[in-house]
Amino acid sequence: MTTARSVLQVLRDGDVPSPDAVYQFARDVGAGTVSDAQAGAFVMAVCLQALGDEGRVALTQGMRDSGDRLSWDVPGPVLDKHSTGGVGDAVSLMLAPLLAACGAFVPMISGRGLGHTGGTLDKLEAIPGVRTELAQDKFAKIVSDVGCAIVAPTRNIAPADKRLYGIRDVTGTVRSVDLITSSILAKKLAAGLDALVLDVKLGSGAVMVDEDAARDLAGALVETANGAGCPTTAFLTDMNQPVLPSVGNAVEVVDIMRGFQTGQGRCVELAVALGADLLVAGNLASSVSDATEKLQACLQSGHAQEVFGKMIAAQGGPTNFDDRWQDYLDVAPAFEIKAGQAGYVQSIDGQALGQATVSLGGGRQKETDRIDPSVGLSQVASLGQEVRAGDVLAVVHAQTDIAASQVQAAIGAAFVVGDSAPSDVPLIHDRISQ
Ligand code: URA
Repeated sequence: MTTARSVLQVLRDGDVPSPDAVYQFARDVGAGTVSDAQAGAFVMAVCLQALGDEGRVALTQGMRDSGDRLSWDVPGPVLDKHSTGGVGDAVSLMLAPLLAACGAFVPMISGRGLGHTGGTLDKLEAIPGVRTELAQDKFAKIVSDVGCAIVAPTRNIAPADKRLYGIRDVTGTVRSVDLITSSILAKKLAAGLDALVLDVKLGSGAVMVDEDAARDLAGALVETANGAGCPTTAFLTDMNQPVLPSVGNAVEVVDIMRGFQTGQGRCVELAVALGADLLVAGNLASSVSDATEKLQACLQSGHAQEVFGKMIAAQGGPTNFDDRWQDYLDVAPAFEIKAGQAGYVQSIDGQALGQATVSLGGGRQKETDRIDPSVGLSQVASLGQEVRAGDVLAVVHAQTDIAASQVQAAIGAAFVVGDSAPSDVPLIHDRISQ
């Protein structure tokens, strides 16, 4: 019989336990029959010695099956997207209703801000009344009725991940491709998806700054998700500047609403690219160009914005948010940060912009902190933009002059302005499929 102790003994000897043993271990973590000491020894061993492709799939499946698995009886494909996290990245808020407007069903289980990166749930909760901690039957009803909902994981979605994540945090074992991959996918795959697309960020505002590391993670995610039975592709996308020209919570929702209205901008471009892959995977379009046309039509007709409004109302927000969003979003007073010299924006330190937003109160320093949804940055200059001395590089939204002045130097220093324009950086570096 496989026990936690026998799995650990195999790992201790430098061998890889069988997939069945890894699967059972992960389920036992969720059931609570593996002790904290055993779970800690396991994550450290996996950090030092990879599990291999089959072991990683088994770990993911065991974590997925450690709690509830959702199933759907809906007249369309069940699709979702996951991003590895960045700054000014509220693509999920646009993509979920956009896919729903095209006939898909999107049960999006999302997260909160982590470190310098923002969280979809925190952004959504910047809209008064919106609730993201919903019971499973309510979540399922909104997805069936509206086509999409964006919620926090309930306690019984991948409980093994909840335990292992806490243990990784205090044992210095967060950074392992096997552990990151299984953690991300266990929660997503528990939602009962027909297809998934992953947005793996690279660049100054990403968790993985380096392209090789981002590529390794993307490859592991795609292989593991497909190995666990969910058709999945990944996009390597650029995070050398915020996706939206804003960083924060209410300010990002403002730019999402503008994106719905104008159909323009990097966020729209990214939502359409990720969405096109999913519509093809879900058999709602015959090709990427057909899917792109469908998505753009749903934006232009206002249908996607309307679905967003319905989702907001169903999750407890105002019933007329899609029409009257300006009335509801509270944005703190504005302080301009100006360029000291003329030239071109040559680089932007996205991590510094994210950290500045956290220190204004737009993110958490510790888990129990309350977020101030009204603070952040807007009108963030873009890479390659030509500026004159005195032009605005970003607008800080802060509750007081003092709070704004405390981040002013860091935000100014995050922009390097020089004589020549940088070479163009593509928004999408690569698409990775199996
Ligand atoms: N997001 C997760 O859900 N898990 C990780 O390990 C890293 C990012």
